[in-house]
Amino acid sequence: MNSFELNKIAGAVLGSALAIVAINEIANIAISPTMPETPAYVIDTGAEEASTVASEDTKPEGPSLAVLMASADEAKGEKVFKKCGSCHTVEEGGANKIGPNLYGILGKAMASVEGFSYSDALVELGGEWGYEELNAFLTKPKDYVKGTKMSFAGLKKPTDRADLIAYLRTLGSSSVPLPTE
Ligand code: HEC
Repeated sequence: MNSFELNKIAGAVLGSALAIVAINEIANIAISPTMPETPAYVIDTGAEEASTVASEDTKPEGPSLAVLMASADEAKGEKVFKKCGSCHTVEEGGANKIGPNLYGILGKAMASVEGFSYSDALVELGGEWGYEELNAFLTKPKDYVKGTKMSFAGLKKPTDRADLIAYLRTLGSSSVPLPTE
């Protein structure tokens, strides 16, 4: 091999290297890969969803019970009570029907009406019917007291529940202070 031949080989190698660089450049220009600012698809790790769920848990939507109670309407509550009247009386000394008499129920011990046969679930829950408890129970009775005998779907509207609790408060529970938070 003489130096001329070596030169030819070196030249060929260099040439093809240059060609590769050139092709690369042309390809780059032709395809022009501009990176999108937002990824085309987001990998759902569930992290964001979990955090919103957590914050919903700790901070319920809408006004607080104190705010709702402050503007609750007893007269409207009396109308809402029509949904309860088939099973409950509410006047003092009223009879137990399918459900117990509800006179003075706000602030009263749970499952404590004389002569009414409660479910074990409600008896075991114990405690007192405060604003929070009534509000939670009336939202969805079967969620609040698993195994309750009260066959009532619940009142979805927070204002309906507040109006109703305000009405119940006028019946033997007016001394129970309104919630402050
Ligand atoms: C289909 C009949 C029925 C309807 C409608 C109904 N209840 Fe009841 N309620 C019951 C029964 C039965 C119980 C007893 C639950 C148990 O023992 O688990 C009960 C229990 C209760 C208690 C607990 C009483 C206590 O002494 O601890 C409250 C408070 C109550 N109901 C409020 C209401 C309100 C307010 C409404 C209307 C929004 C309503 N209920 C609608 C049947 C009913």
